[in-house]
Amino acid sequence: MEYRGYDRDFNLTGKVALITGGAAGIGKAIATLYALKGAHLTLADLSPGLHDAAKEIFPDPARIEAVIGDITKGGDRERIVQTAVKRFGRIDILVNNAGVALLEPALEISESNWDKTLDLNLKAAFFLSQLVAKEMIRTGGGKIVNIGSQAGMIALERHVAYMASKAAIIGITKVLAVEWAKHNVQVNAISPTVTLTELGKKAWAGDVGEEFKRKLPAGRFADPDEIAACALFLASNATDMITGSNLVIDGGYTIQ
Ligand SMILES: NC(=O)c1ccc[n+]([C@@H]2O[C@H](COP(=O)([O-])OP(=O)(O)OC[C@H]3O[C@@H](n4cnc5c(N)ncnc54)[C@H](O)[C@@H]3O)[C@@H](O)[C@H]2O)c1
Repeated sequence: MEYRGYDRDFNLTGKVALITGGAAGIGKAIATLYALKGAHLTLADLSPGLHDAAKEIFPDPARIEAVIGDITKGGDRERIVQTAVKRFGRIDILVNNAGVALLEPALEISESNWDKTLDLNLKAAFFLSQLVAKEMIRTGGGKIVNIGSQAGMIALERHVAYMASKAAIIGITKVLAVEWAKHNVQVNAISPTVTLTELGKKAWAGDVGEEFKRKLPAGRFADPDEIAACALFLASNATDMITGSNLVIDGGYTIQ
């Protein structure tokens, strides 16, 4: 593909985005920013709270579709993609955001918690990408943004299953980037530090969080809006030459 310039205002006007885990936290922040930038949205989430979140993000139902579903189930993934395509005709941007953090010491973690973590954070994100990439290829290309984590890059106690899932999503981002570059599909990851969502607050409550913050060069945790800003950048046509990268938003934690 020839270089065709980029929109200086990072608008997503006319673009169609599918965001998983859009009812809360980082997914909702990304959806809110994409909406502001003119995108049409399909949000998929397990939580029935998704309908209220969708109304908050976009009071005008013409530009938003909310699909309740469990993306660890193949049938639900297909229904979500079909709903988005039927409603808006295409999918230009996929954000694999839905995730779970079941934090336990390696000596104690159960097989079932290991499976839950890997099923959602890795397997569901991959197979959803596989379905959506076929749509993107059909319509001339697209952008996939995978939400990784600092915990997929460096060792944190109690993070063994989460690390396995996030290191793997950062890893497969590179494989998908290489395989799909010829189809004009760019695939990138974002790896945040602790971010002040329900998941982040729960995982890092109390002394453990305060101690972590002291080691963080920026001296504070991230806001969901800061992750959304990077997800906008990676969804924009300013990044057509960026693929397979992992954009780290960690206030300097992992470079120490
Ligand atoms: N918050 C942090 O500190 C932090 C740091 C690094 C990375 N991350 C990653 O960012 C992403 C979002 O995290 P968050 O903090 O916003 O989480 P959150 O728990 O606030 O929101 C996650 C959303 O995903 C939905 N979800 C869960 N399981 C689902 C399923 N099977 N199918 C569909 N939807 C499902 C939930 O209902 C929820 O709305 C996750 O991948 C997480 O691992 C978070």
